[in-house]
Amino acid sequence: MSQSHMPQAAPRHLVLVGYRGSGKSSIGKELAMMLGLDFLDTDHAIQEKAGKSVREIFAEQGEPVFRDMETEILEDLVDHARNLPPSVIATGGGMIMRLENRRLLKKLGPVVWLKVEPKVALHRIIADTFTHDQRPSLTEHDLADEVRTMVAERMPYYAATADLTIDNDRPGETREDVAARIIDQLRQSHWYNELVARLNK
Ligand code: S3P
Repeated sequence: MSQSHMPQAAPRHLVLVGYRGSGKSSIGKELAMMLGLDFLDTDHAIQEKAGKSVREIFAEQGEPVFRDMETEILEDLVDHARNLPPSVIATGGGMIMRLENRRLLKKLGPVVWLKVEPKVALHRIIADTFTHDQRPSLTEHDLADEVRTMVAERMPYYAATADLTIDNDRPGETREDVAARIIDQLRQSHWYNELVARLNK
């Protein structure tokens, strides 16, 4: 990770971005455990604040309202970043589409993009029956088309936001392997040393 891409102010958090099925929650929880950080998910924070599921927000209020809620949650997190325990923050797959969100994410800490091929994302989305039912459709297309189109459309925005890109579709790798790879990469950054120093105080 090049130092010029690192957040300027002492960053307290580690941000995960990536498409649905890229493993933000599972890898995020593993990373949090391995680094001794808290774990926070922006979709969960939105659901708690709104008192309803993301699917209900999409159905009852529409996607633009959900997108505004995403920005509000990020603003809250940035405003309270110093009072929050250092955390791994997993974000919704579309969070990177707004320039404002990309700027806010980078204020929280280094951003890790969990990158997956569309067919792997599709396979995981279908296999995850619980969240599959909770996830609103994002387009009128069938799911395979939706994943292909959305991944292609979003790719430049994930790339523009990320300080570190990690493939999460290598066959045979466990979530521990992927989290360990991320930590190995982070160890080379001053962020990691600053965070460890802060945790040991
Ligand atoms: C979305 C992804 C979802 C959730 C919402 C919109 C998207 O989060 O924020 O359904 O636009 O890709 P996950 O990426 O955690 O599924």
